[in-house]
Amino acid sequence: MKSEINSKIMYEKLQNCLKCVRKKTDFVPKVALVLGSGLGDFADNIDVECIIPYSEIENFPVSSVLGHKGNYIFGTLNGVKIVCMQGRVHYYEGYTVQDVVLPIRLMGLMGAEILFLTNASGGINSGFKAGDFMMITDHISSFAPNPLIGQNIEELGTRFPDMSNVYHPELCSVIEETAIEDGIDLKKGVYVQTTGPSFESPAEIQMFKLLGADAVGMSTVVEAIAANHMGMKVCGISCVCNMAAGISPNPLTHAEVQAAATEAAPLFKKIVTDSITKMGKL
Ligand code: HPA
Repeated sequence: MKSEINSKIMYEKLQNCLKCVRKKTDFVPKVALVLGSGLGDFADNIDVECIIPYSEIENFPVSSVLGHKGNYIFGTLNGVKIVCMQGRVHYYEGYTVQDVVLPIRLMGLMGAEILFLTNASGGINSGFKAGDFMMITDHISSFAPNPLIGQNIEELGTRFPDMSNVYHPELCSVIEETAIEDGIDLKKGVYVQTTGPSFESPAEIQMFKLLGADAVGMSTVVEAIAANHMGMKVCGISCVCNMAAGISPNPLTHAEVQAAATEAAPLFKKIVTDSITKMGKL
């Protein structure tokens, strides 16, 4: 009974958020882009039509993390209609996982067909180095709560959605092609999401490595699951900002992650922009 009520409340909350957005813009995006660390000023590339601060959307989760802004930015990027999330909320901030994925679902309800996820991660694969970009080919969700727990919201998708191809093969091909054209040595791999906020211990990183993970972070997977549930095509690129605990000899700091993300930003912007430009033609 409890979960039944919760799922109804969640759907009503989503519809109410959509109403708030629709009062300000009737923009229908093709691509939804989540900007991870370092990509905060990505919007500079966009012909902006409308900006909606999250704080102006009723009951919308607002991030408390330093360096994370909170806006939806609507506009065109080389002719492609796009909505960007400038800032996302994380599970470790204390939101329910259903609230963490609400902004993603909302972009799906606005009409976005493609979800492009970006993030910062710690590298586990010993072939990686700080500053590398990893296209996400698959994920491990087992260390974060599943966002679909609770009575299923039938209006969004099915109870037991398939997760065989979360990262859409056609979108992945576009990213690979773009990396070659841009001269970027794109890595590929499996991303594991932890809850955070503590970084992992070296033993945890060894475990993730044994399980087949190439990079670790505190976001993205729950978002990809929620988007796949509602039929969006998903892709993602992770900026490896540091080598993970125990692989790197140094203690990890948020400042180090942010500094690496800022340094990688120009190239990150390039591959994301060029990939989205091509995706607009699919
Ligand atoms: N672990 C988890 N999340 C991260 C890391 C890390 O090493 N680097 C950037 N985000």
